[in-house]
Amino acid sequence: MPKKFFKVYDFAEHGNEPQTINSVRTIDIEGKRICLVRLSDSYYAIDDTCPHAGARLGLGKCDENGMVICPIHRYKYDAKTGRGLPQQGDFVNTYVTETRTDGVYVAFDKKWWQIF
Ligand code: FES
Repeated sequence: MPKKFFKVYDFAEHGNEPQTINSVRTIDIEGKRICLVRLSDSYYAIDDTCPHAGARLGLGKCDENGMVICPIHRYKYDAKTGRGLPQQGDFVNTYVTETRTDGVYVAFDKKWWQIF
């Protein structure tokens, strides 16, 4: 499916290290909130809304194993796969990210961005 890329960090504006390793941040992309995760190897993007009870994952934390920890009840989601812990039995959507020479981009399926 065709994708559209949105620049979420511009290195010229935000610097080359706009987010620390093992951290999360909520990013608003034209009204859609995603949780942007920076790990040691790359950036990852997942849904910002926790499927358990709707908390914002971007206000949580990220542990050294790349698990995003919800700030409310501490459910965990893998930043790379979106999978929750086995005992949770849930998941969050993941989104393609690209780090280019000029910044960091997150992509959405054409189906999503055409309706906004
Ligand atoms: S709202 Fe996220 S774990 Fe409950």
